[in-house]
Amino acid sequence: MRAATLAGSLLAATLAVTATAPSTPYNDLQWIQSEIDFIAKLQARLTGSPEHNILIDHIESELKRIGLHVYEDIIEFSYSDPPVIQPVLKVNGQNIQLSGWIPYSGTNSSSATGKLVNVVTPNITATPNWAAAKDAIALANLTNVALDYNTLFGAWSLSAPWPPQPGVPAISGVEFTNLVAAAAAGVRGVVYIWDNITAGLADDQYVPFQQANLAIPGVYVQSASAILHLLDAARSGTDASIDLPGKRVPNTRSRTLYAIVNGTDHTLRNETVIINTHTDGVNAVEENGHIALLNYARRLKANPPRRTTILLFVTGHMHYGELVAAPARATDLWLRAHPELWNGTQRAVFGSCVEHMGAVQFAEDFAKGTYEPTGGVEPEWLFAATAPLAALVQRLWSGAEPNVTRVLNPNTGEIAQSGEGLPLLKAGIPEVSLVTSPAWLLKFYDRGFDERTLVDTKALVRQVASFERLWNAVDGLSAEDLQ
Ligand SMILES: *[C@@H]1O[C@H](CO)[C@@H](O)[C@H](O)[C@H]1NC(C)=O
Ligand SMILES: *[C@@H]1O[C@H](CO)[C@@H](O)[C@H](O)[C@H]1NC(C)=O
Ligand SMILES: *[C@@H]1O[C@H](CO)[C@@H](O)[C@H](O)[C@H]1NC(C)=O
Ligand SMILES: *[C@@H]1O[C@H](CO)[C@@H](O)[C@H](O)[C@H]1NC(C)=O
Ligand SMILES: *[C@@H]1O[C@H](CO)[C@@H](O)[C@H](O)[C@H]1NC(C)=O
Ligand SMILES: *[C@@H]1O[C@H](CO)[C@@H](O)[C@H](O)[C@H]1NC(C)=O
Ligand SMILES: *[C@@H]1O[C@H](CO)[C@@H](O)[C@H](O)[C@H]1NC(C)=O
Ligand SMILES: *[C@@H]1O[C@H](CO)[C@@H](O)[C@H](O)[C@H]1NC(C)=O
Repeated sequence: MRAATLAGSLLAATLAVTATAPSTPYNDLQWIQSEIDFIAKLQARLTGSPEHNILIDHIESELKRIGLHVYEDIIEFSYSDPPVIQPVLKVNGQNIQLSGWIPYSGTNSSSATGKLVNVVTPNITATPNWAAAKDAIALANLTNVALDYNTLFGAWSLSAPWPPQPGVPAISGVEFTNLVAAAAAGVRGVVYIWDNITAGLADDQYVPFQQANLAIPGVYVQSASAILHLLDAARSGTDASIDLPGKRVPNTRSRTLYAIVNGTDHTLRNETVIINTHTDGVNAVEENGHIALLNYARRLKANPPRRTTILLFVTGHMHYGELVAAPARATDLWLRAHPELWNGTQRAVFGSCVEHMGAVQFAEDFAKGTYEPTGGVEPEWLFAATAPLAALVQRLWSGAEPNVTRVLNPNTGEIAQSGEGLPLLKAGIPEVSLVTSPAWLLKFYDRGFDERTLVDTKALVRQVASFERLWNAVDGLSAEDLQ
């Protein structure tokens, strides 16, 4: 079934190329939908997990079917098998409702018992008094604070100003790395109260995903009654216990794949283009970038580019803290391993990272306590490293609408570019990267939840086509025109 579809689409691609100008984006809607269905069914694909391996094998076989040679790099790391049984928090022997657990926490000891000590702080910049919870379980808190994207990000002049933005767990949840300071002070485990967030958004957030191992166990609570119960228990010096029933699997291997499509222009043999994404993630949007890369691979095979183009499917994004030191990310491992493909006689003159396509927009309603779809799509965060690239994106991105398509300047603003495009930027490669970031991006969904509902197929197809139009245009420009 799949083979027949692909053979058909290859034929269609060839016909499309001979019949129309090469700048017409080519999409096989049926194939794209089958890819969305495929990852929606796999659900969470944590780095090195069996589900992640299924997607990597699938990408490899698709690339081979297209007729490309597939290269691989292998990483080895100590995998933290996520709790298969729900983590447990008990106070005085009684279960407390948890909202989630902190990834790669409890890597030295997955359970902890001790007196519950309140180290709640008046604001997010104040440091909890961890010493007060030495040899005990600390009860700390953090707030999902509202954000001003106008100062967090730089923008190219064509983008509209941002309205005030609600809190994003990927940002406020970085506070969970306080577990390092807590462990250093002799705290045995931490229970965080997560404030100003609905259950629908807070539950099962895989944040912060980018930290290295966190020795002591950490969990968080969101429900008002659980919070009251915990504050009460801390007041009376009651005992608590945390149990994260995951296991460590040392020497776990995972594969980064890449394919190289040779350029046709002999005068440009010294130049390459790198298009990357990552393959691990927690849901059907984080990560689905491979769909754009595979679609483009078919196009390139039928209609080769002037410049040698590298399609790179990176592993390790969801746990890059153990693999590289900040500000490096998973793609840096590949860049370090293959300088000859981008920083030698061949130099990368352009790069693009594709992440999180077709994300539907959700919003919290604090009065109702709900977190539901708004009917719209999430603003597209499109980082463009240079002014000519920003102008090109603004011109070629279909459906570009000032409140949806946000062309951001990664060289200005308060926080670093998100995602796996940052290594390209840091390597001095002019890049355009999509990293749309809904607040639910890092949420695990229950088995049985239909993750296709997270993806707006029309928006995803528009993004795939827009990227293809951009990449085609870039292939026709000189390296100087991109800087
Ligand atoms: C975790 O365990 C390792 C090895 O046993 C030890 O070296 C390290 O100090 C521990 N870290 C913490 C924070 O307890
Ligand atoms: C946060 O709390 C600390 C400790 O009470 C205080 O010193 C600091 O000024 C507060 N910061 C803000 C931004 O309110
Ligand atoms: C902790 O909780 C207190 C009491 O609800 C609140 O005033 C404070 O802002 C919270 N601190 C953080 C860091 O969220
Ligand atoms: C709580 O979240 C709402 C909406 O996300 C936001 O408007 C508000 O400023 C937040 N409160 C705090 C203390 O950050
Ligand atoms: C691409 O070019 C390289 C270097 O010139 C060569 O070794 C390789 O065989 C070529 N690949 C294909 C598929 O032609
Ligand atoms: C590659 O070689 C061409 C022709 O010699 C030259 O014009 C171009 O600047 C070179 N590109 C790079 C990135 O050095
Ligand atoms: C963009 O959003 C602002 C409010 O945030 C609104 O006033 C404006 O009409 C919107 N523009 C478009 C083109 O939808
Ligand atoms: C590129 O290679 C040169 C040496 O040829 C090295 O000095 C430079 O640091 C490399 N650039 C990056 C970004 O790694």
